[in-house]
Amino acid sequence: MLNNVGFNLWADNYDQTVQVSEENGLYPFAGYKKILNTIFNEVMQKDNSKVLDIGFGTGVLTSKLYSNGHLIDGIDFSEKMISIARSKMPNANLFEWDISKGLPSEILENTYDFIVSTYTLHHLTDEEKVAFITELVSLLKRDGKLLIGDVSFSTREQLDKCRQENIAHWDDDEFYFVYDEIKFSLPSTCEFHPISHCGGVFVISK
Ligand SMILES: C[S@@+](CC[C@H](N)C(=O)[O-])C[C@H]1O[C@@H](n2cnc3c(N)ncnc32)[C@H](O)[C@@H]1O
Repeated sequence: MLNNVGFNLWADNYDQTVQVSEENGLYPFAGYKKILNTIFNEVMQKDNSKVLDIGFGTGVLTSKLYSNGHLIDGIDFSEKMISIARSKMPNANLFEWDISKGLPSEILENTYDFIVSTYTLHHLTDEEKVAFITELVSLLKRDGKLLIGDVSFSTREQLDKCRQENIAHWDDDEFYFVYDEIKFSLPSTCEFHPISHCGGVFVISK
């Protein structure tokens, strides 16, 4: 599993790596653009909303929201990713923080119209995901939504099939969402929208 140093080293090539995997429809980033666009379009339903991005990386999603007038807070543990994102969003509140420790106090003081997270929460175990998602949902405004895009599957069979087909570069240190298994521990409002053979969007309302 990559730590923050690994992500610092990846930062300059990150967008290119994603593009190659996405354009060829390959694990892990097949459907990446459609997943981010689905989340972008959902946030755009509300003008000037307050958005928190967990693991914003190079800011591919949030910099577009920022340019469209949304107020952005973000958390990431890679200083190199943060510096790339900050160059695109100079007035966003970007915090260097490891989400395995929960949320920083500066974020806990706020509430959000949308909390978004793409390709980041698979770094947490399912138990950690559930605890973290519960913490995130408590920060949503009354009609707020948590939108998660990630490597994800409806069933364990689909994950196993993808793993077999990609065994040479499968990352066994990552914990991908399996909707059929995790749905019982998530709020009952949780919906899963599969988008590619290995990715989809979770929508969790307050
Ligand atoms: C695969 S990138 C996704 C970036 C972006 N959200 C996207 O969709 O392109 C994962 C991001 O999560 C961050 N990240 C991974 N584990 C983290 C952790 N424990 N705490 C904070 N950030 C983390 C990494 O630094 C990286 O920027």
